Amino acid sequence: MDLSLKGKRAIITGGSRGIGFRTALLLAREGCSIAFCGRNQDDIDNAEKQLKEVGNGSVFGKRADLENQSETRDFARFSAESLGGIDLLIHNASGFDMAGDESGWMRSFQVDIMAGVRLVDETLEQLKTSTCASITFVGSMASKFHFGRPPTSYGPAKAAIRTYANELAQTYGKDGIRANVISPGAVWFEGGSWDKQKQENPKFYQAVERSIPLGRLGTADEIARIIAFVASPAGLWINSTHISADGGQVATVD
Ligand SMILES: NC(=O)c1ccc[n+]([C@@H]2O[C@H](COP(=O)([O-])OP(=O)(O)OC[C@H]3O[C@@H](n4cnc5c(N)ncnc54)[C@H](OP(=O)(O)O)[C@@H]3O)[C@@H](O)[C@H]2O)c1
Repeated sequence: MDLSLKGKRAIITGGSRGIGFRTALLLAREGCSIAFCGRNQDDIDNAEKQLKEVGNGSVFGKRADLENQSETRDFARFSAESLGGIDLLIHNASGFDMAGDESGWMRSFQVDIMAGVRLVDETLEQLKTSTCASITFVGSMASKFHFGRPPTSYGPAKAAIRTYANELAQTYGKDGIRANVISPGAVWFEGGSWDKQKQENPKFYQAVERSIPLGRLGTADEIARIIAFVASPAGLWINSTHISADGGQVATVD
C-alpha cells in the first residue's frame, strides 16, 4: 500500500532513540523530510546520520529539552522553517515519571502535555496550509489501565493528552487537521526501558511476556508502522481516535 508520504514534512519529538527513532526511520524511507529533537547530542548526530542514509528527504536534528518552554518553542519554529512547512506532527517524547513525586509530576506536565500544546501552538498555521495535516501523540496503555504500580503522573498525563487530541480534532477538522493518540503496551528494543527490565528483572519480564496473548513484547518497528499509517494520508479517515497498540496485553474490549 502506498502511504503517500513522499515529499511530506514531519516533526518528531524524541526522534533520536527508541520508538521515535524507528518512526523517523520509517518515515524517511517513505520519502518524508524529518525534523526531530532529543537532549543527547551524540544520539541526535547518530540518528541524523542514519536517517540521511535511508531517504532522499532532508533531515534536521536539534537538541531541545522539552521540559523547557523556550527550547520547545524554538524547536518547533526551527522545524517549520527548516522543513518549509509541516504535514505531520508527532509528539512522541515522554517525561516517563515512575516516581510519582513532585518533580515527576512537573516533568510529565511539561514534557507529555505542555510540549504537545506548545508544538501545536507554534505549528498550527503551517498545519492549516498542509493538504494532509495530522497530529499524532504517542500515549500509553497506562492512560486506561492500572498496571499495579504505585500512582505516578505517567498514566494521568497520557490520559490528558487523549482529551486534548479530541479537542484538537473537533476544533481543527474544518482546517483539514486530524488528531489521534496511539498507545503502545510494553515494547522491547535494545537499550529501552524493557530491555533494562529484561536484564535486571528477568522473572518480571517473563511474566509480562506470558501476559501478552502473542507471547512476547511489541517491537519499536511494530509501533512505528502504526504511527506512520495513522499519521499518513493513507490514514485519512482515522480522526479523533485512541488506538491501543499493545498486542492484546490489556484484556479489555475497548
Ligand atoms: N517503550 C515502551 O514499552 C512504551 C510503552 C508505552 C508507551 N510508550 C511511549 O512511547 C514513547 C517513546 O518511548 P520509548 O520507549 O521509545 O522512549 P525512549 O527510548 O526513552 O526514547 C525517548 C526519546 O525521547 C527523547 N526525550 C526524552 N525526554 C526528552 C526531553 N525532555 N526533551 C527532549 N527529548 C526527550 C529521548 O532522547 P534524550 O533522552 O536524548 O532526550 C529519546 O529520543 C513515549 O511517549 C512512551 O511513553 C513506550
